[in-house]
Amino acid sequence: HEFETIRVRQEGRVAVITLHRPEALNALNQMLMQETVTAVTSFDRDPEVGAIVITGSEKAFAAGADIKEMAPKTSVDMYLDDWFAAWDRLAQARKPIIAAVAGYALGGGCELAMACDILIAADTAKFGQPEIKLGVIPGIGGSQRLTRAVGKAKAMDLCLTGRTMDADEAERAGLVARIVPAEELLATALTVAGQIAGMSMPVAMMAKEAVDRSYETTLTEGIRFERRLFHSLFASQDQKEGMAAFVEKRSPTFVHR
Ligand code: HXC
Repeated sequence: HEFETIRVRQEGRVAVITLHRPEALNALNQMLMQETVTAVTSFDRDPEVGAIVITGSEKAFAAGADIKEMAPKTSVDMYLDDWFAAWDRLAQARKPIIAAVAGYALGGGCELAMACDILIAADTAKFGQPEIKLGVIPGIGGSQRLTRAVGKAKAMDLCLTGRTMDADEAERAGLVARIVPAEELLATALTVAGQIAGMSMPVAMMAKEAVDRSYETTLTEGIRFERRLFHSLFASQDQKEGMAAFVEKRSPTFVHR
């Protein structure tokens, strides 16, 4: 597949999507959205891929939705085009997605990072939802995912003032899983993705599904859901192999079945 606004490559069982609009700090225009979602969807379906990394440049993961593209639109244009709806398909991917964030992750850039499963930040990362300064509000889930990630206090602060938060604050607040020096960002993300891709694929997918379920349901139903998935895994070859390998003091060889 030839893409204009992203670069894709595969390293073993890890797929890497690099946002690539250097002239606009990776602003998320419609083409970049379509291309990213197309790439994620096809990697998600590919049995040779176990995890996906999405990253940007040193200066910007993404500086938001493309303001120049949106500026002239009317309300009816946005509604009829269902602006940003394609991003919902990224959140429906079943395989783990890691966002490796350096530099600006603002507006839609922050929202894209939050739609991923694990957020690894360089010490240069800056997060924010500055839409209010443009006369709008977040439109790719920011008001919801940020609030769930960091709580009401900081979500209100960020969405109402448009201020940015640095990597340390984002980690303390629970938005970011790990902070690493900028020069180690991609290597760390690839290592983490490689570890995940080395697990049994259906198990990693179910672990993701179970954690995601906690956002959608009550504790009792969530635990019931987890328990059913857990029980079902005892029908898998990889459960037999994983536990046998432990008992026999060797590394497991998973067959993703
Ligand atoms: C379109 C953008 C852009 C964006 C940067 N650029 N962000 N173009 N949409 N979101 C372009 C600039 O116009 C400029 O193009 C080039 O990228 C480099 O940007 P500079 O501003 O010159 O860089 P710098 O001075 O380093 O400042 C970096 C920055 C600033 C602080 C990140 O670019 C900035 O504030 N960007 C907008 C951030 C933002 O508001 N994001 C939220 C978007 S709204 P030229 O051609 O001039 O060189 C959003 C909404 C989602 O995401 C839902 C609401 C509908």
